[in-house]
Amino acid sequence: MTSVPSLTASLQQRVSAALAAASPSAAGADPLLRRSDRADFQANGVLGIAKKAKANPRELAAEVVGHLPADDVLAEVEVSGPGFLNLTVADAAITTRLAARAADDRLGVAVKAEPGRTVIDYAQPNVAKEMHVGHLRSSVIGDAIAKILEFSGETVVRRHHIGDWGTQFGMLIQYLIEHPHELDHPADSDSGEGAMSRLNRLYKASRAVFDADPEFKERARRRVVDLQAGDPETLALWHKIVDESKIYFNSVYDKLDIAIRDEDIVGESAYNDMLVETCELLEKSGVAVRSNGALCVFFDDIKGKDGEPVPLIVRKADGGFGYAATDLSAIRNRTGELAADTLLYVVDARQALHFRMVFATARRAGWLTDEVTVRHLPFGTVLGKDGRPFKTREGESFRLVDLLDEAVERAAAVIRAKSQELTDAEVAERAAEVGIGAIKYADLSTSLGRDYVFDLDRMVSLNGDTSVYLQYAYARIRSILRKAGEARPVAHPELPLAPAERTLGLLLDEFGETLAAVAESYEPHKLASYLYALASAYTTFYDQCPVLKAESPQLVENRLFLCDLTARTLHQGMALLGIRTPERL
Ligand code: ARG
Repeated sequence: MTSVPSLTASLQQRVSAALAAASPSAAGADPLLRRSDRADFQANGVLGIAKKAKANPRELAAEVVGHLPADDVLAEVEVSGPGFLNLTVADAAITTRLAARAADDRLGVAVKAEPGRTVIDYAQPNVAKEMHVGHLRSSVIGDAIAKILEFSGETVVRRHHIGDWGTQFGMLIQYLIEHPHELDHPADSDSGEGAMSRLNRLYKASRAVFDADPEFKERARRRVVDLQAGDPETLALWHKIVDESKIYFNSVYDKLDIAIRDEDIVGESAYNDMLVETCELLEKSGVAVRSNGALCVFFDDIKGKDGEPVPLIVRKADGGFGYAATDLSAIRNRTGELAADTLLYVVDARQALHFRMVFATARRAGWLTDEVTVRHLPFGTVLGKDGRPFKTREGESFRLVDLLDEAVERAAAVIRAKSQELTDAEVAERAAEVGIGAIKYADLSTSLGRDYVFDLDRMVSLNGDTSVYLQYAYARIRSILRKAGEARPVAHPELPLAPAERTLGLLLDEFGETLAAVAESYEPHKLASYLYALASAYTTFYDQCPVLKAESPQLVENRLFLCDLTARTLHQGMALLGIRTPERL
């Protein structure tokens, strides 16, 4: 594991040092180095620094050039315009850097100097309910962020805060007590779909009685009390319902190719024993006050349309605990026992106010200190082609499984059309990787906060910014490497690089920096757009630079080397997004 500094970082350091040498007042100033069309990089920072020092920018720029070390990294430096520096890297420096990356398992990507401990709350479906398209985003985004953070060296604790507690369980359990065979099923049918249809049946049947029969309603209400008190029979049935739901969740997560570990499923119920204490602590410290019988927290800056303050209700007037009491208890657990220094919540943007109030309350109570970073990572809504929230004609949410199945079917059609020689089994296997990858990529390549249109035709398209395009680029490289026969990928720093090779090479060198930025800002779409740029640069390289038919054996080796590193970078990047890269397509 050897981390390799990027050329950008090396240049940044050289230019900063030269700046400081040329103008002592510029020590520590940012040279504002950017990739550029004119040369490889342009540094624009001299202008501002000259202005501050009341110096002539072109003269200062020339002096900076004089202080740049004459080593083998820079091939050319020129002052342009009012005082920009255009910097061109030596071909050999590019190839040497890439060779160092290729020699490392992590492609030379550094781990954080001071990794922390992050608890990430994502993939939180609700027990006894179908998973719909809203659960897709939380799962896909959360899984990617968790993987990216882990790769950066961070310790990551995953928490699936499933909705497994609440008054609706009184109704379900009471109905089960009165109809003990409702969840029975033949021993051989424990599929996820089967589990969900039994839960749906239970839900509908109990709901109907609940709405029609006031005495049942009362029995259901008492059942909630029994559940909260930990009555064994009630708890056993509650477990049965939760377990049945987990069978269903796991089947959907299998399809989605997202690994969910049982020990990370720590749902609302897990904090039940803390709720009373959480409320007592809030009340004693004066953070929460009684208002019309309910325990509430008020905020100066949170008011409703009528100008009245909107409180966070921690405990209802009837004594019931709400969603907020659970989230506050979870914060105590996460910053306390779990000793996290960062808390992330990958949850729908519509819950923004809830989290704002919960975080502010936890701060006042001292459960969140300045040492802890807490972020709600709100995501936008998935829309239908009509630009409205994606719903069936009946106004219901689409079942997530149906969307996944359809994506896989569409992918199968695309694959079959492109590669006729594949057997049905091969098509099926690849279709799952391509179809699920397409859904994940469409989600991850949009910035989190934005809504996006669920358009399967676009998602599985071979052209444009799609995972299929990236997967084909990967498979094409793998096929070239297979066809190379005796020829091996070997770096030859002595060879000059063609423009398309330079572009590809400089991009390959930016992988680590891209990952670091993504891990810092929690923006997986930046990794997606990096990978797309990389695949596009590869396509241009492939069009302009023959690989196996290159003029000399050295050139063949060096191009194979670029191919191999591109494939590895694509593979690693896609894996961090949770997307497979089939060897053949
Ligand atoms: N189960 C909730 C839902 O489906 C999401 C839970 C989010 N996490 C949390 N800690 N509140 O909307």
